[in-house]
Amino acid sequence: VTEQAATAEGRSLVVTSISELVTNDPDGDAAFGVLHDAAVAIVDGVVDWVGPSTALPDHFGDYTTLDAGGRCVVPGFVDAHTHTVFAGDRAGEFARRLTGATYEEILASGGGIYSTVDATRSASFVDLMDQAMVRFRRMLGSGSTTIEVKSGYGLTVESEVAMIAAARAIDMALPSDVVSTFLGAHVVAPEFRDDRDGYLDLVTGPMLDAVAGDVSFVDVFCDAAAFTVEEARRVCEAAYRAELGFRIHADQTARIGATALAAEVGAASADHLDHANDDDLEQLAAAGTVAVLLPGVSFSMRTRPPDGRRVWDSGARVAIATDCNPGTAYVETMPFMIALAVIQGGLTPGEAVWAATRGGALALGLDDRGALLPGAAGDLVILDAPTHIHLAYKPDAAIVARVVKAGVVVA
Ligand code: NIG
Ligand code: FE
Repeated sequence: VTEQAATAEGRSLVVTSISELVTNDPDGDAAFGVLHDAAVAIVDGVVDWVGPSTALPDHFGDYTTLDAGGRCVVPGFVDAHTHTVFAGDRAGEFARRLTGATYEEILASGGGIYSTVDATRSASFVDLMDQAMVRFRRMLGSGSTTIEVKSGYGLTVESEVAMIAAARAIDMALPSDVVSTFLGAHVVAPEFRDDRDGYLDLVTGPMLDAVAGDVSFVDVFCDAAAFTVEEARRVCEAAYRAELGFRIHADQTARIGATALAAEVGAASADHLDHANDDDLEQLAAAGTVAVLLPGVSFSMRTRPPDGRRVWDSGARVAIATDCNPGTAYVETMPFMIALAVIQGGLTPGEAVWAATRGGALALGLDDRGALLPGAAGDLVILDAPTHIHLAYKPDAAIVARVVKAGVVVA
């Protein structure tokens, strides 16, 4: 995140005339907390006061004021699962899938993730960064003020380090906060096709050592096409030893026990969950592991959408994220994910907004954001609409009018 202004005044802002302010106050009257005819005051990048416009204390008159003009304000979106750093694209593969080829076939024949690995390895650092930066800017413009990003298209020590360095450089250059996750265990590197154990030794040893200081989490793609439950357990154990949080791509294409593993090892999140059953979800809820739904994947892959209603009703805390990647979901905008989670997944608009903000923050272990309450980060989105319902009702990125990061209008 850039330091937009050195002074406290530069990061202070009062937003007035808010028709509907989504606070995510757990003590509010709606499940997700909402105030009407409200104002919010951000001082030095942090929310200082929220309440009815008529009760705004006089001393906030000295601060820069933004009139929301009767629009809705929600917390900045927290996109807790992305693969936004990559080179090239896979439009040709997408077209082949439309005429019958499957994701698994393409991957098994050295395409899919492997073709992005080729493109990412051969890109220069500057090129890799430039390509990613364009996407991160669009994400910020559509309201994502905190964005997680995974490595996993390098699969050598050198190129995984480069991906993570690119994410770090983007974090410094862009107002959004960028949270890095090491996904060396995305697929077995092509050089190790006949030596899976050798590759896992590399991932959990020298590769993890090389990146540990620069990432917050470790992830593993636990799937029939990637790593087994026992292999994923090894990755989680290594992350635990390195004192890093961990998360699991779980039960995306089939139920292989990955969701249960996430609960058993106390992962920060279990992501995808398309094939998790009620028993698995109950275990997640009991473990406090956040269930991250990625509705852009089933939309792009033309598969059955994750049943958000069932996941929410299991009692697990739910997050929604884009999974932005060149293979299964080339999507960048959280408002569109909210629309899918409501229209296809059965969440209410309020639940979906909570999942895209507070839920994402909890998935990343960031307790300081995803709510508009005193003490929380001054990250918010002014919608070009009077209610949060419009996020699902009018599913396009143009619904975002203004983005505020730590008290500064950034988009
Ligand atoms: O989250 N599941 C694994 N990783 C990505 C897809 C990556 C790719 O196809 O490039 C996902 O869907
Ligand atoms: Fe993913």
